[in-house]
Amino acid sequence: MHEKDSSMNDLNVVIMAGGKGTRMKSKLPKVLHELGGQTLIEHVIKVAQSLGATQKIVVVGHQASDVQVALSTHPDLTFALQEPQLGTGHAVQMAAPHVSESGVTLVLSGDVPLITVETLSQLLEVSRGEHLTLLTLNAPDPYGYGRVLKLQSQRLGQTEIVGIVEEKDASPKERLIQEVYTGVMVIPNVHLKAWLSKLTNHNVQKEYYLTDLVKIAVDSGHVVLSHQTHDVVEVSGVNDCAQLAFLERAFQERRARALMLQGVRLADPKRIDVRGELVCGSDVSIDVGCVFEGRVGLGSGTRVGAYCVLSNVEVGPGVTIKPFTHMEGGDKPADSVSIGEGAQVGPFSRIRPGTHLGAHVHVGNFVEIKNSTLGVGSKANHLAYVGDAIVGDRVNYGAGSITANYDGANKHQTTIEDDVHVGSNCVLVAPVTLGAGGTVGAGSTVTKDAPKGALTVSRAKPVTLPNWSRPVKKDKS
Ligand code: UD1
Ligand code: CA
Repeated sequence: MHEKDSSMNDLNVVIMAGGKGTRMKSKLPKVLHELGGQTLIEHVIKVAQSLGATQKIVVVGHQASDVQVALSTHPDLTFALQEPQLGTGHAVQMAAPHVSESGVTLVLSGDVPLITVETLSQLLEVSRGEHLTLLTLNAPDPYGYGRVLKLQSQRLGQTEIVGIVEEKDASPKERLIQEVYTGVMVIPNVHLKAWLSKLTNHNVQKEYYLTDLVKIAVDSGHVVLSHQTHDVVEVSGVNDCAQLAFLERAFQERRARALMLQGVRLADPKRIDVRGELVCGSDVSIDVGCVFEGRVGLGSGTRVGAYCVLSNVEVGPGVTIKPFTHMEGGDKPADSVSIGEGAQVGPFSRIRPGTHLGAHVHVGNFVEIKNSTLGVGSKANHLAYVGDAIVGDRVNYGAGSITANYDGANKHQTTIEDDVHVGSNCVLVAPVTLGAGGTVGAGSTVTKDAPKGALTVSRAKPVTLPNWSRPVKKDKS
């Protein structure tokens, strides 16, 4: 009993990713297309990790180096090169030298991204570490799949799995079988190499079919088991862009449902896209058409208006984000973006990397902020640019004002101290500091530091020409 337990722990996962993926009609290898902001194969790797795989072997073939480079951030992967690609059985043959002596091998496909940990755990349980075990599905439309062949067994007194026949090799009668092989199987490692060595390519496609292992196992006196899933989505593969879009929506609907069950109010669960991690406090509401990328946090009571795109931002509690706002933080700490409690942003605001808005800040329409900190209660409500600036508390930043932070070669900082009032249409030529409590008159170009508490203004005085008259249209006749 003891030995069996330890062999159960030895879980080798082979992820097949050698096929060509012609129908994607793309230069990108199929498994590197993204679903929910992650490549297809990364979804599968994540599942293998969650299962506690001791060994993860990715079979690469077509565009092998592209796939390997894309996965170079995963030091826990072993790559097996399959060149040329002679079928799924041949793919696993290429992985076999890396498989351990005991335990089992779970075969997955890099283009079946939504397979669940729950189903695979059940499948592994059925195999008990010693039986070839198939994940099957009852498909109302089994076209294209391998059909599971069963016979009344003398030795078991019930039906027994005896083989899998591929669509192209199946007789008309076999094609009526609705129980199909999903492409996922568990193979006991003690038999793996011996069984694989018996594969031939004597079939319509002249390929080495992994599915032939079933007959090989049965012929050598072994019982083959199965576990059935009822979820078509989790065993669906991606072969073309239509299937990719179908699985994307299925994935997003699952995410949306999980958010709603957690208390997030979604205006329409069909109109949200989470391409990363979205962490919400209580009483968060999200209107239609929003996209969340990377890691986004939304504090309690925060409301996100329609058609906002939020990437890598930490939004505090009680924030109102009005429609069509784009917030774009980066992965690096210097590029992080945070929005303070009770702030109001939008509509049509653009918040770029390195922006930190304090509590109760207001940022309005057509305002762009980059690499800047705004203190508590400061406001930039209309048509403005704030870049590389440190802005104190209670500052009012007028419509049409900008920080001229770039001299054509270098970026410079603007400092605006507490309680400054910047009038409309000002140009603050950095580096420059506006002292606390000061006022900059509308239309000023500020090229040197403005003192505290004073009015600084730089503009031509208005002139009036009393005898001037407007031109009039010439008579056309
Ligand atoms: C396979 C099964 C079929 C099952 C179906 C489920 C075989 C012979 N048939 O058929 O019974 O119903 O999956 O989707 O296994 N691959 C390689 N190297 C190769 C060939 C394929 O790495 O030489 C990879 C592909 O990239 C893909 C996976 O193996 O990720 C499955 O290959 P695919 O050609 O899609 O198999 P199907 O014909 O769909
Ligand atoms: Ca095939």
